[in-house]
Amino acid sequence: MASSILFFGFLAFSFSYVLASDPSSLQDFCVADENSNVIVNGLACKDPKEVKADDFSFSGLHLAGNTSNAVGSRATTVNVAQIPGLNTLGISLVRIDYAPRGINPPHTHPRGSEILTVIEGSLEVGFVTSSPENRLFTKVLRKGDVFVFPIGLIHFQRNVGNGNAVAIAALSSQNPGVITIANAMFGSTPDIPSDILVKAFQLDKNVVNYLQSRF
Ligand SMILES: *[C@@H]1O[C@H](CO)[C@@H](O)[C@H](O)[C@H]1NC(C)=O
Repeated sequence: MASSILFFGFLAFSFSYVLASDPSSLQDFCVADENSNVIVNGLACKDPKEVKADDFSFSGLHLAGNTSNAVGSRATTVNVAQIPGLNTLGISLVRIDYAPRGINPPHTHPRGSEILTVIEGSLEVGFVTSSPENRLFTKVLRKGDVFVFPIGLIHFQRNVGNGNAVAIAALSSQNPGVITIANAMFGSTPDIPSDILVKAFQLDKNVVNYLQSRF
């Protein structure tokens, strides 16, 4: 009895683990119907007879993103919001531009692993494993180098070259989502009570108040 409870517990755990990324398609495609009011996991399908080549297309990824901001980087996303044909396919793309010394700040994608290719310049990249190890994996990449960020783990990039840097990354979700750590912790709406952040980050209350005013 106890062993069967353990077995089913393990089975339930395995399923929840597998379903952490997008589920498989049950048809050739399910192009998102932007006019549908139906709320489903993902987006409702448009009538396949109405589907056109443009539903699978996006233009403009040759254009550099504007990096004039506090972190010196810009992500241009190409996910199901830009290409309705990505609905149910479990894949998407992003172009990231980096000013000299710009960073893509520590963040995580709750629904997708990421595979990044450096197209121009040099990047220092890294990710941190889950607790208790919190082990940092880091590497300097040059043009043509590829690096993987496993699903859910906090990761970052920094431009360590002299000029601009550009990367193209693919993600294993039609809508991988992004949680930027500093913004989520210090820029939530409404604010997380500052005494929680004081203890969590072992910071002075004035520092927490300052950070909350910045994000
Ligand atoms: C880039 O963004 C900055 C800050 O928002 C803005 O002032 C500037 O006009 C933008 N540049 C271009 C080329 O859009």
